[in-house]
Amino acid sequence: MYQFIVPQVKKPLDGDVEISGAKNAVLAVMAAALLADGVSEITNVPHLKDMKTMSDVLRVIGCRISGDSHVLKIDTRGADHLEAPYELVKTMRASFYVLGPLVARFGRCRVSLPGGCAWGPRPVDLHLKGLEALGAKITVTHGYVEATCEGRLPGGTFHFPISSVGATVNVLMAATLAKGTSVLQNAALEPEIDNLVDYLIAMGAKIQGRGTRTLTVQGVEALRPGNGYTIPDRIEAGSFLCCAAITRGRVKVTKIIPEHIASTLDAFRLMGCKVSEGSDWAEVDARGVELKPINIQTLPFPGYPTDMQAPLMATLMSIPGTSTIQDTVYNDRFKHVAELQRLGADIQITGNTAIIKGGAPLEGAEVMGTDLRASMAMVLAALIADGETKISRIYHLDRGYEDFEAKMATLGASVERVIIDADEP
Ligand code: UD1
Repeated sequence: MYQFIVPQVKKPLDGDVEISGAKNAVLAVMAAALLADGVSEITNVPHLKDMKTMSDVLRVIGCRISGDSHVLKIDTRGADHLEAPYELVKTMRASFYVLGPLVARFGRCRVSLPGGCAWGPRPVDLHLKGLEALGAKITVTHGYVEATCEGRLPGGTFHFPISSVGATVNVLMAATLAKGTSVLQNAALEPEIDNLVDYLIAMGAKIQGRGTRTLTVQGVEALRPGNGYTIPDRIEAGSFLCCAAITRGRVKVTKIIPEHIASTLDAFRLMGCKVSEGSDWAEVDARGVELKPINIQTLPFPGYPTDMQAPLMATLMSIPGTSTIQDTVYNDRFKHVAELQRLGADIQITGNTAIIKGGAPLEGAEVMGTDLRASMAMVLAALIADGETKISRIYHLDRGYEDFEAKMATLGASVERVIIDADEP
């Protein structure tokens, strides 16, 4: 087990950071490779723990995974063990993505229910209802979902009652191999869905409505292996831009798609940061600026992302006055608040809203990262906390930030990884 030691930076951070591929986009594309028989290649893949977990899931199914230098090759020719076990699915919910492709291509599979996550219960009912609407027979027994269909899925229409990234991914993948046409209404709009649609089309899928809330999928008999690319990680980009705001410095993120972080950039503008952007970069400059508190609501894309909620909260702790963040996507995603309070933060939770009284001096302490984005919030707060902050459970952070310490170092921050227990991850 490792921890981070982060001393106060005492100076504005300044520098450029190249953003890696989006792990959430790769996870969907990796699962989609199961829809075809053969070798698929995915580029711009970050070296992250989640990629390894999904590789392990695919290996259990019988795939061969290889690759280096941010290219992943998935050979599905040996895929014949149609099961995703609890040991893997419980560590990463996106493992559940294999459900749709497996039932669509093989007519049966058995996938463990993911269970809760670090901040509370996260249901998969919409994944199951959507697959049922396409004609899959679903039973849940002994903690496993068993999905079957006679021959190919018939296909059908499903209206997602709320916007769900994961359910859209699962149902969309299954629809590509259905006998008939499927219509997915109120599908999620997140850029990771467009990335998946592009990959599925490259495999031969017939999908209309990319980038809209209605995806119409004309099922085909078979897909061919495809070459997929990976969009830049919009949450990693937003997280590094928070380093500029919280230290009143300047950070430019490169190799990004600025439209994907438009709401994040708007929030920095509202705070009073100078924001500039080009075709594949964005910069937040808070040097010499007196930042203002803001009120933000997290929403499905194109709204402010829930995954930025914790990093934003840490940032707002540095701004005198009262800010609020209402998380409408995950009402209870606030485990990090108690940890931030250990550093001296003045934050109260009322329902799904955090009320942040910023500007109070923070003191370094021992804290833990309660989930991936919460860990980033701890690092941000540590940058401005007096003395030294020790952050444990950084295996959460390792799921989503590639080359983290090196990237922080290019901005002028010291984040040191030290081993505290050799027997644990
Ligand atoms: C994905 C992201 C995660 C992000 C989230 C919201 C991946 C691997 N993870 O998670 O980082 O925080 O989108 O942007 O891409 N819901 C149901 N029933 C379901 C499914 C979801 O009620 O069957 C609810 C959830 O509890 C939540 C909302 O729908 O309130 C949105 O969740 P969803 O978009 O599905 O999140 P994930 O795909 O799990």
